Parts: sequence; C-alpha cells; structure tokens
Amino acid sequence: MKVPKPKPRPERVSWWRYLRLFRADILSAQPARLYRAWMAEFRTPFFRSYMCNDPVLVRLVLQERPDDFPKSDRIREGLAPLLGQSVFVTNGEMWKRQRRIIDPAFEGGRLRDTFPAMWAAAQAAVARLSEGVVEVEEFASHAAADVIFRTLFSVPIEDRDAAAVFHAFRAYQRRQPILNLAAFVPLPRWLPRGFRRGTRAAAAEIRALITAMTARRAAEIAAGTAPDDLATKIMVTADPVTGERFGTEEMVDQVAIFFLAGHETSASALGWALWLLAAHPEVQEAVAAEAAGMVPEFSALSRLRLTRDVFRETLRLFPPVPMMVRETTCPEAFRGRAVKPGAQVVLSPWHLGRHERIWSDPDGFDPSRWGREETKAAARDGWLPFSAGPRVCTGAGFAMAEGVLLLAMLARAFRFEVVEGRVPVPVAHLTVRAKDGIWLRVTRRGGEI
Ligand code: HEM
Repeated sequence: MKVPKPKPRPERVSWWRYLRLFRADILSAQPARLYRAWMAEFRTPFFRSYMCNDPVLVRLVLQERPDDFPKSDRIREGLAPLLGQSVFVTNGEMWKRQRRIIDPAFEGGRLRDTFPAMWAAAQAAVARLSEGVVEVEEFASHAAADVIFRTLFSVPIEDRDAAAVFHAFRAYQRRQPILNLAAFVPLPRWLPRGFRRGTRAAAAEIRALITAMTARRAAEIAAGTAPDDLATKIMVTADPVTGERFGTEEMVDQVAIFFLAGHETSASALGWALWLLAAHPEVQEAVAAEAAGMVPEFSALSRLRLTRDVFRETLRLFPPVPMMVRETTCPEAFRGRAVKPGAQVVLSPWHLGRHERIWSDPDGFDPSRWGREETKAAARDGWLPFSAGPRVCTGAGFAMAEGVLLLAMLARAFRFEVVEGRVPVPVAHLTVRAKDGIWLRVTRRGGEI
C-alpha cells in the first residue's frame, strides 16, 4: 500500500496565494521540486526565505555555527503566552544555561530510571484501547500525555491535575494551532498577529495549572518527600557554571514545553507508525512476534531491532516536526548565493526524509533499509527528526525508548488493519497529523498478554 504524501502545490503561485496555502498547511503549500532541490529561495515583499536541503548547509546551520543562526524573535512572540522563556524559544546565554540544567535529566543512566513509569503507561494504553474502528491519533495523544505525566510528575493521566492540563492544552490547540503563521513568518508588525480571541486566557489557564503542580513539587523537595522523577531531577540540578537553579516561574516554562514538545510529537509518530503497520501486515506480524517475549526491563528495548527500525522509518516518512526555522545574523553565502542578515532559513526534516537524491525509494516504507550499509550515509544527510547539533531535541533518547516500547506493547496485544476508503492525508499543524484522523480496525490478539 502506498505511503500517503501531501499533494504539492503548482510550481508557480503568487506570494500572497503562497501565504494563504501556507496558513492552511505548510506541507501542501510546497512545490514538488523541493524533494529534489538542494536549496530553494522564496521571495516575498517582506522577507527572503531559504529552504536548505543541502547537507553541507544543514550541518553549517545546526552544527558548525549554530550561534549565528538563532531562532527568530517571532517564534518566541508567537509562543510566549504559553511557553514564556522556555528552552524551546530562548537563544544565547539564557538558552545555554537552561540546557546545562535540563540535559543531565535526560542522559542515558537517568533515562533508564524513567523506564518503569513508561512501562506502566504502555500497560495502561493497552488496557485503554478498545476493539472496533478506532481513531488512533486521539488514542496516541492520550498515551503520550500519560507517559509525560508519569515520568515528569509521577502521576497518571487520570490524576485530576494532569487531566485538567491535558484538556486545557487540547482546547488551546483547537483555538490556536501553536505554530501559527505569525510565529513562523516574519511579516511586518502592522499585520494582525493572529492570536485568536481567548488564546491568552487559555494559555493563562494552562500555566496556572502547571504552576500549582510545580509549586507543590518545590514544597515536597524542601520537605524531603519528593519522588525521584524528571521534575525533581531538573528542579534540584544547579547550573554547573553559575550555580543557579530554576525558580518556579522558569520551571513552569520548561514543564509547558516538555508537555507540549513531548506529547504532541510522540503521539504523531505513534499514530503514523500504527498506520504503517496496518498497511504492511507482514511487518506487523514480525513486530508482534519480536515483542512477544519482551520483559519489563530497559535493556529489553535494545533487543527490539525490527520495532526500532519501524519507528525510525516512521520518523523518516512522517517526521512529527516537519520544518524548523532559523534566522541569519550575518552575511552568508549559501551555495554561492549571497544571503543577507535577517533572512529566514528553513530546515525541513520532511523534505530531507523523502529527498530523491538522498534516499533510494524515498516514498516507500522499508524498515529493512536500516540494516543496509548504504543507509548510513543517507541517514547522516537526510534523517533529521530530532534536529542535530547543540540544539538537538532534549527528549530524543526518551522518545525513541517510548516509541519503541509503546509500538511493541500495542502490536503484541492487538492487530491493526486499515479501513477501506480512509487513507490518512498528512497535514502539518504543530506536528504532522492526519487531516481527518487515522482510523484503524483494532482487534485484540488472543492469549499473548
Ligand atoms: C518523536 C518524538 C519527538 C520528536 C520528533 C521531537 C523533535 C524535536 C525537534 C525537531 C526539535 C528541534 C526544534 C527546533 O530546533 O526548532 C525538538 C526540540 C525539543 N524537544 Fe523534542 N521531539 C520529540 C520528543 C520530545 C520529548 C519526549 C521531549 C521531552 C520530554 C522533547 C523535548 C524537547 C525540547 C525541550 C526541545 C527544545 C530544545 C532546544 O531548543 O534546545 N521532545 N524536538
């Protein structure tokens, strides 16, 4: 079965129409040539934008000189009501200090500590999934939110506060997709910003809920009664350079981004992975067989080779964060073309993952490619679901463990089948989602669990 791909726009459109298409969906707003081009320049009366697929440029921006290509203030402004000064939007010294405090909590040994909570969330997901024709994106969101709450605050999604945060986020998103046009595109300041009515109030409600959870945790840490979870680890860590810890307000900013970046993305990947397994029953059976003997230990994950390759292949075909944006701060030469300061640089995990000059059979689902030698070079140049360099996703290791575990547990407990006439169409909002959800027929397997 063919892997869904958004229909590209015609080659030539006016920039105004381009912006309208872009607002609707950044994936179908792009022309087909971007799957072959190394670079593309977009000119509008207000800004220049360069999509860079050339691996040399991607490395330059993300790894070699990341300080010269910061995130733009627009992104921060667009997300500020919800995320404040979170690590996702800050730059420079502030960002560096925040990463020094956060990163240790996600390192290898510490990641192992989160495994029991992840396992419990996966068991709860298996118990929650019902048989019949099911919209699995919604289910995946629930499961991924549960993982975050259990690992961060040691509470399941059924907890009153956790459920309130989850529902408030959903309401927020329905009102205001997080990556709105104004946040992404440097339009002039006199154009309306696009905050819909009630957005700020919804953001304030979410922050109030998270503030209560964070303040309670600060009190538990002070009293010596706090559980040893991610929130505690981050809150007790002092910056090795300045000795500072996060205050409650700054921690709230980080919790908001962990929740947002950590559950929307993982849910998107899990939803697409389930569809891909449903569309490839022979692979699904092999994943179920591999998972059959799994034991609840962190080290068991490393033996799930096929499941991991399925998850990697999913992230190649449906990277949850389809594009990332940076800004030039000094004159640059991109592939011999002069680029002025203030230009927008777009890096596209979406196009890189399906790039015709990087991958063989770029639109095909083939987990076995991950065992082949040629994939090493392609993956280095074209597999960017977690970004790269110092600003790489903090949760990359966490997300790989979570994704593989959930997929394995679900595949061994259930059989997933595609539903005729319901081929999901990918669209990008905050993450890559299916236009009308991902619908699958779910049947419980007999006896395995
Ligand atoms: C499949 C799941 C995930 C994917 C595909 C993903 C992808 C990404 C990408 C592409 C970025 C870079 C964005 C940019 O630079 O513009 C990012 C940043 C980030 N992610 Fe993830 N992510 C995932 C899961 C998680 C999880 C589980 C967490 C936390 C628990 C997390 C926390 C973060 C944070 C804090 C940042 C900001 C890092 C910084 O700017 O320094 N992510 N993620």
